[in-house]
Amino acid sequence: MIYLKTPEEIETMRAATTLVSQTLGEVARWIQPGVTTRKLDTIAREFIMDNGGKPACLGYEGFPGTLCIEVNETIVHGFPSDRVLVDGDIVGIDTVVEKDGFMGDSCYTFAVGTISPEKMALCRTTREALYVGIEAAKPGARIGDIANAVQTYCERRNYSIVREMCGHGIGRKMHEAPEVPNYGRRGIGPRLQNGMCICIEPMVNMGSRNIVIEADGWQCRTRDRKPSAHYEHTLCVLDDKVEVMTTFDYIHDAITDKFI
Ligand code: MF3
Ligand code: CO
Repeated sequence: MIYLKTPEEIETMRAATTLVSQTLGEVARWIQPGVTTRKLDTIAREFIMDNGGKPACLGYEGFPGTLCIEVNETIVHGFPSDRVLVDGDIVGIDTVVEKDGFMGDSCYTFAVGTISPEKMALCRTTREALYVGIEAAKPGARIGDIANAVQTYCERRNYSIVREMCGHGIGRKMHEAPEVPNYGRRGIGPRLQNGMCICIEPMVNMGSRNIVIEADGWQCRTRDRKPSAHYEHTLCVLDDKVEVMTTFDYIHDAITDKFI
């Protein structure tokens, strides 16, 4: 069941989508060789709470952090820990903020220090794939059109798409219908219509698409341990237009010289 939001509800939801964007911008300032992922998690939790939000991942089905931390081969749902980020790592930071009763969800993969050209290309292609998906998300288009656009873009460049995890509807809950896969056929699935709010979040691997979920039931990595990248925006359909509600502008302001 897809919950369509009224224009007023979408206005209310802007508080959460803005705050999650600002949170990633704040975390971006701290990403450098030598920082622990737990430090990033603490920064994010305090920033969200100082700004009247709630860290929605923390305690969600037992998840132990505010941030999902995705270092190199980690695809999604990595735990904050004492791990120290080192020069050459890539780290995806994925988080959900609740504010005024609604959720905002966003993810960005950062370079730690100087990264290899191969990692750079993976991150760039994954970010471009997100925008290709957004471009396909026109009112009246179907979820399958988004999925197919993302898949085609990545596979033509010899990357693989993770299939076990996908984007999702969002609203008062972090995960609502419909599922928004990053692979599939055009012309299938629900049509985008006014009031729909969805997250598009390609997870793209440099090697094979196979995944392993660790014994903790959460942390997910590539089977071949090659790197994976992940970017995410929250979108809404309002007045027959698709609008990206989250923004990477705060991140890009924070990392100007390190922009990948
Ligand atoms: N963006 C992630 C998702 O949609 C956020 C997961 S938060 C967690 O699944 F609590 F599940 F870790
Ligand atoms: Co999400």
